[in-house]
Amino acid sequence: MQTEEIEDIEIQLLLDAIRLRYGYDFRSYNRASLNRRIRNCLTHCDFKHISEIIPRLLHEGLFLQRLISTLTVTVSSMFRDPEVFLALREKVMPVLATYPFLNIWHAGCATGEEVYSMAILLKEVGLYDRTQLFATDLDDEALAKAAEGVYPAEKLTEFASNYRVAGGKRDFADYATVKGGLLRVDPALRKNVLFANHNLAGDGVFAEMQLILCRNVLIYFDSTLQERVLTLFADSLARGGFLCLGTHETMEFSKLHDQFSPIVKKHRICRKSIQHRRPAW
Ligand SMILES: C[S@@+](CC[C@H](N)C(=O)[O-])C[C@H]1O[C@@H](n2cnc3c(N)ncnc32)[C@H](O)[C@@H]1O
Repeated sequence: MQTEEIEDIEIQLLLDAIRLRYGYDFRSYNRASLNRRIRNCLTHCDFKHISEIIPRLLHEGLFLQRLISTLTVTVSSMFRDPEVFLALREKVMPVLATYPFLNIWHAGCATGEEVYSMAILLKEVGLYDRTQLFATDLDDEALAKAAEGVYPAEKLTEFASNYRVAGGKRDFADYATVKGGLLRVDPALRKNVLFANHNLAGDGVFAEMQLILCRNVLIYFDSTLQERVLTLFADSLARGGFLCLGTHETMEFSKLHDQFSPIVKKHRICRKSIQHRRPAW
């Protein structure tokens, strides 16, 4: 047997151990990227073989978070893909402005940059005070950073430039303070944000949403898990609710495709049908 084949067995055993011991199911993650990340874990944790991770994981509860941090990719930015935020500002906000109260869900919010970007956008269009934002992720360490809202000060130039392209109306520095090498977002942006652990691979619907953003998350899932998650979003959205996926993600191949109409196809923004679905009989 080749080393790679043995490693494949070890990876299957490891994924079973994570699921059976902690209930997190990584079996439907894109295998190539997951395998690469597990192999990286060997170097970080000073193990020779993947199977050596298993006893540590089973007997040391705290090791789970370390492993989750290795398996997930939490890279994000304020106003990431700024044209998407410009499209949300121009095409989605005017519709949301007609509702008395809004629920917005950032699924896979990572370290929070996306939800703070949305908070800024909502403030600028006058909708923040009637919006409840939900920011969820599987990774507790990322969520803790998100709730803190503190980023390296060097990010300021990138954040400010994205903000401008996204149609920002003020100076980005109005929303953050920079001191001692750290950029702290204005705590007022956090007022209506609820950060919570939610696992897209296992957890269910928790509120009726007018807008869901799930960007750069589905790319890590196989097609079965992508379909599960898209079904969860379809069930979580109010009629006429908006869904925004990542630039490399699509629902074109999903069974749910005909329940949605494209709003800005290029930026993966679509809208759940407003009409009642006709019963099958
Ligand atoms: C690349 S980040 C995306 C961050 C942000 N949405 C953006 O586009 O900048 C992907 C996030 O998805 C989260 N994630 C991965 N699997 C998940 C799952 N099953 N349930 C919830 N979040 C998950 C990861 O922890 C990570 O924080």
